[in-house]
Amino acid sequence: MAATLSVTDNRTGKVYEIPIQNGTIKAMDLRQIKSGEDDFGLMSYDPAFMNTASVKSSITFIDGDKGILRHRGYPIEELAESSTSFMEVAYLLMYGDLPTETQRAEWRQRIRHHTFVHESIKKLMEAFRYDAHPMGMFISTIAALSTFYPEAKEIMDPEIRMKQVHRLIAKVPTIAAFAYRHSKGMPYIYPSNDLTYAGNFLNMMFKTGDSPYHIHPALERALTVLFILHVDHEQNCSTNAMRMVGSSHVDPYSSTAAAAAALWGPLHGGANEAVLRMLDEIGSINKVPAFIKEVKEGKGRLMGFGHRVYKNYDPRAKVIKKLADDVFEVTGKNPMLDIALELERIALHDDYFMKRKLYPNVDFYSGLIYQAMGFPKDFFPVLFAIPRTVGWLAQWIEHLQDADQKIARPRQIYLGHDVRTWVPIEKRGR
Ligand code: CMC
Repeated sequence: MAATLSVTDNRTGKVYEIPIQNGTIKAMDLRQIKSGEDDFGLMSYDPAFMNTASVKSSITFIDGDKGILRHRGYPIEELAESSTSFMEVAYLLMYGDLPTETQRAEWRQRIRHHTFVHESIKKLMEAFRYDAHPMGMFISTIAALSTFYPEAKEIMDPEIRMKQVHRLIAKVPTIAAFAYRHSKGMPYIYPSNDLTYAGNFLNMMFKTGDSPYHIHPALERALTVLFILHVDHEQNCSTNAMRMVGSSHVDPYSSTAAAAAALWGPLHGGANEAVLRMLDEIGSINKVPAFIKEVKEGKGRLMGFGHRVYKNYDPRAKVIKKLADDVFEVTGKNPMLDIALELERIALHDDYFMKRKLYPNVDFYSGLIYQAMGFPKDFFPVLFAIPRTVGWLAQWIEHLQDADQKIARPRQIYLGHDVRTWVPIEKRGR
């Protein structure tokens, strides 16, 4: 059986054979379909990329109907359960295979070498208003890094490129923690390279005074798992921003800042913050049915529910729900948990949500854990951005190495005026 699609253009009666590869036709193959000599050729219209594959990728696999997520072939549940180090998963994303012990040690060392930021970066961050949103500080500071490393523009030089990857992965926790300390008016804590990736981050966040900060192993482990769960998620809005901006061959600091900006929106990585605000607004379990009723009437969304790809329970949400118990054992239960559980219970049995296949996503429970661990709500998107930086960078490198890719430049359907003659201002009546 031929792997082609036969298309009859009823305007002309012509038949076209369009190859099918990987269950996909090439949009450019439609261009040959023309109604006449002057016709530009057929295009496909796909706002929000609902049915358009913009890349070929070997990094992350999602089956949204079955609720499957795998990185480089490894199921997310297995990575979260078995991998004790975020660095190891970062290596996997970047290089395609799990590291040997030597490779992991070398990789860790290369990252640790870059955890400090230039003192001028610190001064730049100090210049923000006392109440600046930490994600705004994070995005701007990442963008500012490009001015510190002008060689980063040499994106086709593999060695220089990899150095920026090390720098970015190493510096995002430092910048994130500085943003938090700034909002608290607390002195910035420099990185401690003898700690794990998550441990060092917790130390920079919460250490006070001269005495050492004792990191609770269960919380360090929980943060490592949360970092692993957020490391990548194929062609989501921020990854697409990373690839799209990166396709202009700008330096990776600028494209990572663009990706982080995309992540900040409440429909994407800002949803974890929005979930907690929603739970606050609901306030108590007995107000849950009234809230659900309002959502069904179109007066707002149930934040942390629904996903463009998952039409089943988000596998990350399952792991997080279990993780919550370990965290709450140390921190005490987040009082908002009962409201969240009741929302989930009602929504999963309600026709409105069932018909639309709306299930809890990664953001539904993550905020509850972050809050119990002492992170403020406006810091949640930053917590998402730290591990996702690894995914963005892996996707960016894959994009640069993909011979099919060029500068990303969508087409449009122009529906505006045809050519008009300019009118002098005194003759423009309304
Ligand atoms: N609450 C209520 N109704 C919803 C929700 C929700 N959370 N999500 C989707 N719907 C409804 C929507 O109103 C529409 O109904 P109708 O067909 O009657 O018009 C239908 O479900 C399809 O929704 P859509 O907006 O066309 O779906 P989408 O694929 O464009 O949007 C989404 C996906 C994640 C933006 C959306 O589900 C949403 O806004 N969820 C809440 C925000 C959220 O939790 N975002 C985090 C996503 S996961 C982490 C990440 O990627 O960052």
